[in-house]
Amino acid sequence: MILSPSLLSADFGRLTEELHALEQAGVRWAHLDVMDGMFVPNITFGQAVIKSLRARSGLFFDVHLMIEQPERYVADFRDAGADMLVVHAEAVRHVQRVLADIRARGMQAGLAFNPATPLSMLEWVADDVDMVLIMSVNPGFGGQSFLPVTYARVAEARRILDSRGARDVRIQVDGGVCPENAGALVRAGADVLVSGSAFFKFPPYAERLALFERAAQA
Ligand code: DX5
Ligand code: ZN
Repeated sequence: MILSPSLLSADFGRLTEELHALEQAGVRWAHLDVMDGMFVPNITFGQAVIKSLRARSGLFFDVHLMIEQPERYVADFRDAGADMLVVHAEAVRHVQRVLADIRARGMQAGLAFNPATPLSMLEWVADDVDMVLIMSVNPGFGGQSFLPVTYARVAEARRILDSRGARDVRIQVDGGVCPENAGALVRAGADVLVSGSAFFKFPPYAERLALFERAAQA
């Protein structure tokens, strides 16, 4: 299991220090939530902020785009230093094209699904993705309650990927993830867990990471 703490719940006035604290704690990934006020009601930060964080952190940047027509910004987020770029199935008209573009620019490609979106599209893009993000809340805000339908959706995504021979494709879960549901999510087939509020509100971060890791193995 990889834990990807969501900076949405970090102190925005101290993002560099927060990234350093994550690295010190042994965290390897950072989840960066980009919101445009259109695809989701909320607005966060964009490529300029990510670029300045990139210059100050060696963490793997897992960038979750909650924006309309994300294909407009693939090159910008590559220049900003994203390692993984995740677009929403609901926000893109030509899904395979944007996934191929992300990879062609040297990033890993992720495809996200809101809680009510059918996963059947995965059958046809299993070879084009490095990670599938199963949203366990309706995106837009931190601190929302985990939707239990997620367990079945993770298992379904795993089944579709495996049936297409895409066993190495990771499954990420985002929204309301905490030590109490981490074990069941990993058993359902999740590989990467995003946590915002259930991580940042409980320092020290090294202990919180260890708690998530123990929970994931239980
Ligand atoms: C929600 C974002 C999440 C958010 C998760 O729309 O995509 O990454 O930060 O926060 P928690 O873990 O508090 O639900
Ligand atoms: Zn996210």
